[in-house]
Amino acid sequence: MPDLAVRRSESAGVWRERDAELISPAYSRYTDLVVDHAKGAHLYTVDGRDVLDFGCGIGVTNLGHLHPAVVGAVHEQVDKLWHTSVTTLHPTMIEAAAALVSIAPDGLDQVFLNNSGAEAVESSIKLARRATGRTDVIAFTGGFHGRTYGALTLTASKAKYRNGVGPFLPGVHHVRYPNCFRYCDHHPDEPCPIARGDEIEHLFKTIVPSDTVAAIIVEPLQGEGGFVVPPAAFLPRLREICDEHGILLVCDEVQSGFGRTGRFFCVEHSGVRPDIMCVAKAFGNGLPIAAIVATHAVMSAWNPGEHGTTYGGNAVACAAAVAVIETMRAGRIPERAAALGKRAMDRLQGWSERFPEVGDVRGLGLMIGIEFMRGTEPASDVAADVQRRCVDSDLLVLTCGIDDNVVRLLPPLTITEEELDRGIDILERCVTAAVER
Ligand SMILES: Cc1ncc(COP(=O)(O)O)c(C=O)c1O
Repeated sequence: MPDLAVRRSESAGVWRERDAELISPAYSRYTDLVVDHAKGAHLYTVDGRDVLDFGCGIGVTNLGHLHPAVVGAVHEQVDKLWHTSVTTLHPTMIEAAAALVSIAPDGLDQVFLNNSGAEAVESSIKLARRATGRTDVIAFTGGFHGRTYGALTLTASKAKYRNGVGPFLPGVHHVRYPNCFRYCDHHPDEPCPIARGDEIEHLFKTIVPSDTVAAIIVEPLQGEGGFVVPPAAFLPRLREICDEHGILLVCDEVQSGFGRTGRFFCVEHSGVRPDIMCVAKAFGNGLPIAAIVATHAVMSAWNPGEHGTTYGGNAVACAAAVAVIETMRAGRIPERAAALGKRAMDRLQGWSERFPEVGDVRGLGLMIGIEFMRGTEPASDVAADVQRRCVDSDLLVLTCGIDDNVVRLLPPLTITEEELDRGIDILERCVTAAVER
């Protein structure tokens, strides 16, 4: 039996040993930093390091760690009411739903509260099936939607996530996402056939009658799949296909939402209104809360009690969510993300000419990816080396991508210009050192 009485004074090395003993190997971490506390864009480790956080707990702490407005709202709620679930109504849950509706695309005006991104995705599949009376769902390769069975069936960003745990949910079909940098062979000046919907039309002709399809689920900017920004025509075309065939369009904004891309939700860049939107991550700035938001017409397919979850609408998480949305609205945080994203891009844009291994730099707002290539082959070793050097230099960045060859930048949207510049200075030094190796 391991000694569970771990003490705060133990060194980082002892915590790492305890972690290896006690935590499932499945829950691997990007770094072995042992963090004691955090504030704004900074993580403070048990061994006294001050690390600039360009990961935000994977796109969660968009307002920075311990934002005072969120901390204040949580403290106030903690002393008042924590939890009632479906035994009662409570005002904070209704306020959280109202706040979400106030920033959601027009017409998405009813909410079901969940606890995690995967759970929200599960909710969206159930609702789409219930509302259409159809069974099938179309998702995209490179997509990431979570790890529970329904969500995992949709997830197609790395085969290892599915290794040895099938079979999966029936009725799910994958088509390619328009990742033109890696997987399309059309001329750059020609329209992308995948963005034009050719693969979906082919699927309808060959395998899946369109009137059996309940939903198409899409990330408006692919996250785990490599920070892939699709061509502008893609989402409007999906909307058209859905309208033509009576299919619901589900946007997974779990990673791209809450100001990250320079709009409250990434889908707004396209002007498209989804039928169902999944949100999580930055909704609570670190407290677990998620939701689907849909039109009344779609949501009303559910009769009372047909869907549920004990912690949905947890009062403390809802108080955090209300504070997040109020703070983002009052501080015009999405606009700030757009301006800071431009500042970062102005620095990064010339890197593909400067460094032969930098194949592509892309993103929207402060959701920025740098894809490393060696000729036509993905250079995951370079991405890993850049990430390790950054962490050694007190800058936390993460990798992503089907081949794990993309370094992704997800700094807090509240980061100062000075901190952002400092982070990019570190990154620049580390990319230079990694490619000169
Ligand atoms: C786009 C997207 N959807 C869903 C999820 C799953 O969210 P969770 O890990 O909260 O279940 C993630 C997580 O990274 C995500 O990026």
